[in-house]
Amino acid sequence: MRTYLVTGGAGFIGSNYIHYMFRKYGDEIKIINVDKLTYAGNLENLKDIEGRDNYRFVRADICDSEAISKIFEEEDIQRVVHFAAESHVDRSIKNPEVFVKTNVLGTLVMLNAAKAAWEQPDGSFLPDHKFLHVSTDEVYGSLPEDGGYFYETTPYDPHSPYSASKASSDFLVKAYMDTYHFPANITNCSNNYGPYQFPEKLIPLMINNALQGKSLPVYGDGKNVRDWLFVEDHCKGIDMVQEKGRLFETYNIGGHNERQNIQIIHTILDTLQDMLPEDDPRLAHINEDLITYVTDRKGHDRRYAIAPDKIKEEIGWYPETCFEEGIKKTIEWYFDHADWMQNVTSGDYLKYYEDMYANR
Ligand code: NAD
Ligand code: TYD
Repeated sequence: MRTYLVTGGAGFIGSNYIHYMFRKYGDEIKIINVDKLTYAGNLENLKDIEGRDNYRFVRADICDSEAISKIFEEEDIQRVVHFAAESHVDRSIKNPEVFVKTNVLGTLVMLNAAKAAWEQPDGSFLPDHKFLHVSTDEVYGSLPEDGGYFYETTPYDPHSPYSASKASSDFLVKAYMDTYHFPANITNCSNNYGPYQFPEKLIPLMINNALQGKSLPVYGDGKNVRDWLFVEDHCKGIDMVQEKGRLFETYNIGGHNERQNIQIIHTILDTLQDMLPEDDPRLAHINEDLITYVTDRKGHDRRYAIAPDKIKEEIGWYPETCFEEGIKKTIEWYFDHADWMQNVTSGDYLKYYEDMYANR
């Protein structure tokens, strides 16, 4: 039985990945999920799998080298999939320090612990032991509106404290591969959307606000472009890279689905209008009048777009879910999980929302 150490498995992509892996491999694998449970980590995301014999949750900070090394001593870890990070650009603009701690130092701790567990006396590594570092296309910077794509060879040019911290963590993984021949891969993906995404990010924030009749805050002119990837397609890509990809390589994972933010908001409004029953009272307020242009994000990258050619040619992965289908599945999930949204948007979230949007 192969054992996985997943970091950040209580967050958005990590919890989708754990669900995907148990759906795919069932009892053939064991997963150890290490998560600090910051505001973004939520064990409710995993409640249907918490009773499995082949699943274990450990609450720990990835910066805590003792706690992480202990897991490698207790378990025969063959795969690391490293998601844990501070992940929201707006928060990084307000408070960069924690991004450097978790994203840079935390990644270093994970690399050191895996290296210590897997390295042989002759400097080689145990066969079939692999580390996958999950990163972002934001490390490549911003593209012009009228063309171009991010490739694996695109030079790094991060702008926000978030993307700078992710770029630094990627460089550490690259350094371990180059210096020690440490068995790793890096994936850089575009903007994910889907179930369990925390409503500080564009799509769940707009769905939640529209349902509640709150304004929909559009940064700047609303014409910034992101390349949206359905989270399940991403999870499948991560597994395929780890099992079929060439070690030491970087693979970009993108949705081939570029949209302006304002187009996303219109699609959400239209889809909500189509999906809600005719007599739902919320239909009275779900319309364009909710759209409110607000002060732009500082240093706002104009356009991201990935050409996922390498992963398609070498591994056969491609984004299977078109946006219209993915957004319907996502909205349906939020309809069915109103209590989840209620839980994560009470308490601290209200204060966050006030701080971030009050005087914008
Ligand atoms: P998320 O913010 O939803 O979840 C992050 C998880 O990491 C949470 O469960 C949190 O509790 C945990 N965590 C944070 N600090 C920790 C620490 N010090 N120790 C242990 N656990 C800690 O993030 P996400 O959207 O699921 O992103 C996962 C990864 O994918 C991140 O590395 C992010 O940079 C990358 N990524 C995300 C996107 C996206 O669109 N969401 C796009 C590209 C790359
Ligand atoms: P976000 O979901 O924060 O992801 P990222 O910044 O990592 O791409 O934002 C996606 C886009 O939506 C980005 O261009 C900023 C914009 N945006 C808004 O216009 N309003 C909002 O309230 C939020 C959260 C984001």
